[in-house]
Amino acid sequence: MIILGIETSCDETAAAVCKDGEILSSVVASQEQHAIYGGVVPEIASRAHERLILKTVQEAINRSPFNKTELQGVAVTRGPGLMGSLLTGVSFARGLSLGLKVPFVGINHMEAHIFANFIAYPELQFPFLCLLVSGGHTQIWKVEAVGKYELIGETRDDAAGEAFDKGARILGLGYPGGVAIEKAAIGGNKEAINFPRAFFQSNTVEFSFSGLKTSLLRYVELNDGELSPKMLRDVSASYQFAIVDILLSKLRLAIDKTEIRVALIGGGVAANKLLREKADKDFIDSKILYPNIELCTDNAAMIAFLGEIYLKKKLHRCESYQVIPNLRLS
Ligand code: KG4
Ligand code: ZN
Repeated sequence: MIILGIETSCDETAAAVCKDGEILSSVVASQEQHAIYGGVVPEIASRAHERLILKTVQEAINRSPFNKTELQGVAVTRGPGLMGSLLTGVSFARGLSLGLKVPFVGINHMEAHIFANFIAYPELQFPFLCLLVSGGHTQIWKVEAVGKYELIGETRDDAAGEAFDKGARILGLGYPGGVAIEKAAIGGNKEAINFPRAFFQSNTVEFSFSGLKTSLLRYVELNDGELSPKMLRDVSASYQFAIVDILLSKLRLAIDKTEIRVALIGGGVAANKLLREKADKDFIDSKILYPNIELCTDNAAMIAFLGEIYLKKKLHRCESYQVIPNLRLS
């Protein structure tokens, strides 16, 4: 099947074409205008999606070997995400599918982050675990089949991506925070500051990042907001290490509890180099997989890919055009 995927849940306007599990084109237009505000401004995001969506979709189709009339389905993110941003993508996709008389499928963005791993590893077998780490989510799922998911544990407060974003704001490093902290941490000593790791010793698969963020704020305040370049490197490296350490220690616990020894990492934070390197190094008795960086951060290739699975298996439901900002996996 030739499927067009569209992603507009947050601040990336993205489109991709997929055929029989192969990504033929993938275009991501990032909205730079949020950087000065230190975070995504919903109203600016939805207006930018409106401006960018037609051009982005046209570019994705042009870069593929097909033209618009050859498309056999349209898949789009219907949640979770920002209401206005989701509505832009879903309305566009719905109009296009009606005009082309091809099926439409609304996709769960977080589920697509899990399935992005199948693009990188087509031979992947169920069951496996997935550590989903993005701007709004930190969860570990047991994945038994398409549509069959069991939540093993999640965060009680902030998500890991949010901890990076808020941490970067405290340090005055800009947005998006994950990339900014990763860059600022280069050459720093990750053991310079022993940031708190919530639930570290506990036997539950639960996360909490709010104390870590407060601790960073206190450190900056104690230094009157004036950090030398070395202190900034050290504090960034230590903060990044604390987040990575917590994530992987809980992934380890989930593996031990479920005895499932294949675990994927998905979502924007999976792009983090320290997380990837530490996962490779620490898990000798299990297989930890993560897609290449372009497939970790928001993209439409994962939407087209999962959309094709849903359409081929005829799993899509008619109400899937409804936008649900807090859509959950179940
Ligand atoms: O999946 P994603 O692109 O969007 C959402 O679905 O939320 O994830 C965005 C999050 C942001 O919080 C961003 O700071 C974080 O992923 N992120 C990173 C890196 N790249 C993006 N965090 C750590 N290291 C990175 N290299
Ligand atoms: Zn995402």
